[in-house]
Amino acid sequence: MTTKFLLLAAVGAFIFVGNAVPAMAGHTGDPGEPGNAGNGKAVYGETCVFCHGKKGKGEIPGVPDLTKKKGPLVKTDAELFRNISDGFESPGSAMAMPARGGNPDLTESDIHDVVAYMREAFQKR
Ligand code: HEC
Repeated sequence: MTTKFLLLAAVGAFIFVGNAVPAMAGHTGDPGEPGNAGNGKAVYGETCVFCHGKKGKGEIPGVPDLTKKKGPLVKTDAELFRNISDGFESPGSAMAMPARGGNPDLTESDIHDVVAYMREAFQKR
């Protein structure tokens, strides 16, 4: 009697583990398009929240309520972008807004994104 060994060969299992990159929502670098509010939220949480608060109402005296109907967010994207980049002080203000919220690492695209986030999260229309 001979023992027969069945060799199981995994033939035909051609699995292509290739470049299966899921399609991400793109178009964030385009200057004409709205910023990426998801990244903006992260930027806000790292740099802006200490003064402006989680809900955008302002944590310390002199910080404006971003949720007010006729508050700072009625300004254009370009104006907000400039004031966040360069810093901002309104006449008679108790405290100035530091350039880039005091975080020199913020990129232009981060600022673009955080404007989109503030509009989405705080702006009353
Ligand atoms: C150290 C505290 C502080 C931090 C950090 C800070 N802000 Fe401000 N921000 C202020 C103050 C104070 C004002 C109001 C200044 C004034 O009116 O004189 C202000 C004003 C603003 C305004 C209104 C500007 C306008 O044109 O009326 C926006 C928008 C704003 N901040 C966004 C941000 C964003 C985005 C960040 C994070 C990248 C940030 N701030 C970080 C203190 C801060």
